[in-house]
Amino acid sequence: MPDKAFIPSAYTNTIEKGSFTWSAPSNIALVKYWGKKGKQLPANPSISLTLNNCKTITTLGFEKKENSGSFSFELLFEGQLKESFRPKIEKFFERIEEYLPFLKDYHFTIDTQNTFPHSSGIASSASGMAALAVNLMSLEAALNPLMTEDEFNQKASFLARLGSGSACRSVSGNVVIWGDHDETAHSSNLYGFAFEGFHEVFKTYQDTILLVDKGEKQVSSTLGHDLMHGHPFAQQRFAQAHDNLSLMKEALAKGDLEAFIKITESEALTLHAMMMTSMPYFILMKPNTLEIINKIWSFREQTGVPVCFTLDAGANVHVLYPENVSNKVLDFIKNELVGYCQNSQYICDEIGTGAVRIN
Ligand code: DP6
Repeated sequence: MPDKAFIPSAYTNTIEKGSFTWSAPSNIALVKYWGKKGKQLPANPSISLTLNNCKTITTLGFEKKENSGSFSFELLFEGQLKESFRPKIEKFFERIEEYLPFLKDYHFTIDTQNTFPHSSGIASSASGMAALAVNLMSLEAALNPLMTEDEFNQKASFLARLGSGSACRSVSGNVVIWGDHDETAHSSNLYGFAFEGFHEVFKTYQDTILLVDKGEKQVSSTLGHDLMHGHPFAQQRFAQAHDNLSLMKEALAKGDLEAFIKITESEALTLHAMMMTSMPYFILMKPNTLEIINKIWSFREQTGVPVCFTLDAGANVHVLYPENVSNKVLDFIKNELVGYCQNSQYICDEIGTGAVRIN
């Protein structure tokens, strides 16, 4: 499907003013998106678990205005005007205007809040851009009432991607694939879609996020993706992601936790290896990140509990495990890992169903 397919034909309805409220969750990649090309297109396909508790809640107010010469919006973050978000939203609107031609006809109030602490080092761009995209789609659906739910979700993911790549994986649950992949029918670089064929055990999978370092990101993800241009190992890494996605789909389908653990941890370390071997180079793990990884490995070896870790582009550790071992893993976290977290902080999350309309 070409991206032009997302340009709407003339709207049949008009609407003067109103508001919508949506929540959209964060997601954690198992096979990582790292490297991009063209207009926010991924250099390789990725797959993620949609989270449930870490989310952004956004109310979009809109009112028709006289002059449709420029974008007009106000941004509130947790009730306060937030001018520093303006350039990001302005850029997002510029990128999506072709696909939402009504954008300059309205004045918007974007009122947003996160359920997770800011400066927790948890990326809010995925949940934030997804929450804005689904709100804008509600307005488009009001202008075009014939839109189907599938069309709504696909275009919401398409728009979210233009705000932040990983945001396209935050519209649907529970497991989402984004990016062209020969072995995945209907896969696309333009949007993410739900992977249905996963085993029971993943339906209630747990993700406890250990906050090792809550500071500002050392490397923005946009800069990080750029580091893959001219990276000596880029082509091999992209090929590996294709292979890992095939293996991961198989592990998810069979409920093969051993394979799941292997691919997930290898992907996390590969992501960091790419950063360590780029020019300039970065180490985003902290000493406590490594302490935690080693503890998880010895706990798994000693107990046989299928718990593993993954990482984002930062020092925090996502601890992933099936629900039926929750008690054991939470005891282990409280007894042995909390000491490595900044201010002993961690967030309990689990797999979730995607964006939800609240109002
Ligand atoms: C390491 O989606 O934040 O989390 O497209 O520039 O907004 P932009 O990047 P972003 O990159 C996320 C990278 C990652 C891996 C992943 O989520 O797949």
